[in-house]
Amino acid sequence: MIDLSVDLGFVKLKNPVIASSGTFGYGLEFAPFFDLSRLGAFVVKGLYFCAKEGNPPPRLVETSSGLLNAVGLQGIGVQRFSEEILPKLRKFETAIIVNVCGESEEEYASAVDFLNRQKGISAYELNISCPNLRRDGLCPALDSEATFSVVSLVKNRSSRPVITKLSPNVTDIARIAISAQEAGTDAVSLVNTFLAMAVDVDSRKPVLSNVFGGLSGPAIKPIALRMVYQVAKQLKIPVIGMGGIFSGKDALEFLIAGAKAVGVGTANLIDPKAALRIIEELKDYCQEKGIKKIEEIIGSIRA
Ligand SMILES: Cc1cc2nc3c(=O)[nH]c(=O)nc-3n(C[C@H](O)[C@H](O)[C@H](O)COP(=O)(O)O)c2cc1C
Repeated sequence: MIDLSVDLGFVKLKNPVIASSGTFGYGLEFAPFFDLSRLGAFVVKGLYFCAKEGNPPPRLVETSSGLLNAVGLQGIGVQRFSEEILPKLRKFETAIIVNVCGESEEEYASAVDFLNRQKGISAYELNISCPNLRRDGLCPALDSEATFSVVSLVKNRSSRPVITKLSPNVTDIARIAISAQEAGTDAVSLVNTFLAMAVDVDSRKPVLSNVFGGLSGPAIKPIALRMVYQVAKQLKIPVIGMGGIFSGKDALEFLIAGAKAVGVGTANLIDPKAALRIIEELKDYCQEKGIKKIEEIIGSIRA
């Protein structure tokens, strides 16, 4: 029997595979495809305190090896989520992580205050790294001080563990990760999408209404992996790695590089059972290599 469980310190996951925010709806949309209890965890779509419409269309573009999105954090807000969705999620035996957004530090804290009163949430993932909210792509995760400030505030107000989601759109991601750690975050997750764009050559206009969007999928995997490796080497807290994971082998690269768990994002949009397949492929790898406990391979890179 292979033990796929991983211990993040604040929560133990039955396996290291987490469905990433924004690519897995509120979870329920994927329940017809497989039993969500089989996942290590899933992260719901980003929620603000209030409902948000997101950006106008067009807001999704396929590129040659990735997806460009400028959805702009459309969501139903914490109250509707707590009343209509969360009660239905509680039956699943997996960790439910809520991705929390804010246009101001106080809005992040208000969302967390509200969610603190709801049952059945394992942790918050603080989304300080969305590149398509503002036309200039700015967000707190681009700056160490802004990261420290929002993470400290939320950590003070939160009754639950906080995972801080980092942006790859920086020169030195480890420096931002260290700020989040100093502010008391329980873990970091990386990467969010890369600031990018596409141009329609007939109209000569940007394809996305927002001009910029976030690139995800296979195109970003090697860069995301490099960043996860750099951050894991410097941090004491767990790192959740993501960016272009489409197979068990992709997931293994992140685990070996030091991630304690991995996020599967864009792959869910192509194959709704992708996360499940990746769990099976991790199991097969362990079986083949005679590994009894998947935690043995975490950070085992020979570099
Ligand atoms: C359509 C779409 C929506 C997303 N929405 C969110 C979100 O609400 N909150 C968040 O933190 N990340 C969001 N992300 C980022 C993903 O969770 C993930 O970090 C990123 O896509 C990289 O992983 P991937 O290449 O496996 O997709 C979104 C990504 C996509 C493609």
